Amino acid sequence: MPSLGNFFHTQLIAKIPVPTSSFASKTVIITGANTGLGKEATRHIARLGASKLIIACRNTSKGNSAKLEIEASVNCKPDVIEVWELDIESPASVQKFVERANKLPRLDVLINNAGIQTINYQVVYGTERTLAVNNIGTFLLALQLIPKLKETANKYEVTPHLTFTGSALYDVAKFPENYGDNIFDWYGDESHSNRMNQYNLSKLILLYAIIKLASIVNSDATNPIVVNTLDPCFCKTGLPGELHGALKVFMRVFEALFARTSEEGSRLVVIAASAGKETNGKYMRAGAVQEYAPFITDKAGVEKSNTIWEQLGQRLEKLQPGILQNVNSF
Ligand SMILES: NC(=O)c1ccc[n+]([C@@H]2O[C@H](COP(=O)([O-])OP(=O)(O)OC[C@H]3O[C@@H](n4cnc5c(N)ncnc54)[C@H](OP(=O)(O)O)[C@@H]3O)[C@@H](O)[C@H]2O)c1
Repeated sequence: MPSLGNFFHTQLIAKIPVPTSSFASKTVIITGANTGLGKEATRHIARLGASKLIIACRNTSKGNSAKLEIEASVNCKPDVIEVWELDIESPASVQKFVERANKLPRLDVLINNAGIQTINYQVVYGTERTLAVNNIGTFLLALQLIPKLKETANKYEVTPHLTFTGSALYDVAKFPENYGDNIFDWYGDESHSNRMNQYNLSKLILLYAIIKLASIVNSDATNPIVVNTLDPCFCKTGLPGELHGALKVFMRVFEALFARTSEEGSRLVVIAASAGKETNGKYMRAGAVQEYAPFITDKAGVEKSNTIWEQLGQRLEKLQPGILQNVNSF
């Protein structure tokens, strides 16, 4: 977690740069783009000239409203933005989406932005739902689209980006000491779940997995794909929508005092999605690369990263046999 001073500075004082990199001729997919940060990122990328922009969302009528709203506010032709159904809690939906995406002529950017913060315990993919959506479903999609990103890189001599919306809250996550054979199995038991920790833990697991994925992808110098992540600041969006009672009141006051708008936060998503090779495996905050907390990169952190990758891989292989070939073939 950033220091209090850093938090206040980032939330209240720092100038968040407006993205300016061109997306001309690029095809971009953004998950969770019907609202919040994803919708505003879509608006920026439309303004920056993308040829094809795919709003990936589980509710296509919400996606279509977002499309119309963005088209009305930005000068982009009606055939640029498309709305495709995607529910990352459903392997069948992910599969259908991947098959459709594989028919695209190119894929330059995949922004893995969809995420949840829930305090109600539910089991999805055999684990607690926050980890299911923010980690398992997110990677189930991302790993299956890596071949398309790679194909685009080779065919068009470009540098595709695989960008994940992370969170500075990774730094305050409590990582369980003993969790048996697989951390995802462990959280399939409600008594192990800590509703105040699940979201932070999901963002920590996300980082460990991204670091490992980026190291694999980067192991071959000829590979042109960038894997990176960012913290979009604390922004007023629909994310804490499930909070109730005193927690909800606290969040509303906290938001009123400190939150950035979703448009401001989305700038950071877009900047990361065009930040270039030097950001492979890196975490960006306030528009620049920021060092990971030391516990991420020290010896124990590297071991955790390897273990998380292995355990996530086991889960993904069960859902989609052969999925790791998409990465290991690098
Ligand atoms: N807001 C912040 O302060 C903040 C800070 C750090 C990181 N983040 C991250 O930013 C990302 C975007 O969140 P947000 O703040 O913009 O929140 P949001 O307004 O709640 O947007 C989340 C998006 O994810 C989608 N989503 C959730 N579950 C999904 C599923 N199973 N399949 C497909 N889409 C799904 C939601 O769809 P529905 O509309 O259908 O629910 C929505 O479009 C998240 O990864 C979040 O963790 C946010």
